[in-house]
Amino acid sequence: MAMWRRVASLSPLIRSSSSCKLAFLNQVLTSPASLLPQVAYRLNISELFTTEVNESPLTKKDLFISFVLGGPGSGKGTQCAKIVETFGHVHLSAGELLRRELISNSECAAMILNTIKEGKIVPSEVTVKLIQKEMESIDNHKFLIDGFPRNEENRKAFEKIIRADPDVVLFFDCPEEEMVKRVLNRNEGRVDDNKETVKKRLEVFYASHLPVINYYSQKGKLYKIEAVGTEDEIFERVRPVFAAFEHGPK
Ligand code: C5P
Ligand code: MG
Repeated sequence: MAMWRRVASLSPLIRSSSSCKLAFLNQVLTSPASLLPQVAYRLNISELFTTEVNESPLTKKDLFISFVLGGPGSGKGTQCAKIVETFGHVHLSAGELLRRELISNSECAAMILNTIKEGKIVPSEVTVKLIQKEMESIDNHKFLIDGFPRNEENRKAFEKIIRADPDVVLFFDCPEEEMVKRVLNRNEGRVDDNKETVKKRLEVFYASHLPVINYYSQKGKLYKIEAVGTEDEIFERVRPVFAAFEHGPK
């Protein structure tokens, strides 16, 4: 009975088929296997799983994409600001785009807020579409995408929707005690910078980000940066990575 109520309540969600609802539904479908047959009965499955393939203006640009990875408080945002200043890249923070979306009153807002509070990962279609919109609206070809991809699903969704691979993947390697200290000491009014959520974010980091980091390491694209020290000391470890590309073919 409880199961039926849950399935029935998904029905209006399915009919309207907006990307946020579909992304959410996708997540529901990938969790309890027992729900699948009932949900499938009410769905037009092809509609749910077919992603529109439009020619993106991005495919026409000579892109230089860097992904910036690291645990919460590892210094991604701080170092991105320095990279922007020195090398003229555009900084896109996936977390910031999501936080902006959640105060915009969009249909995804509540789902994003709950996910961030739980320290979990927002469905990839939502995040990648926000990144895509931003990339398409900016007249630059060098993008630093911070806090992304957070898991294998993020990575695959980016490849599928943006149809591009990163040129550089930076990984800020920081001891856990240092990350926790930085997050709890910063005071930016974030709903997830508290002891309880940081613990969950760290769990997600170890379980989901590390496979992505290993993937890029195997592809020879990973630049691991020791993330302890002053901001300037750390930047001196980051600088040569981008300096090498300044004089390279791109
Ligand atoms: O990178 P940042 O710490 O700003 O991310 C804050 C939160 O935003 C994450 O803990 C997660 O809940 C969400 N997020 C996400 N997917 C991403 C990046 C951030 O769901 N790719
Ligand atoms: Mg950040």
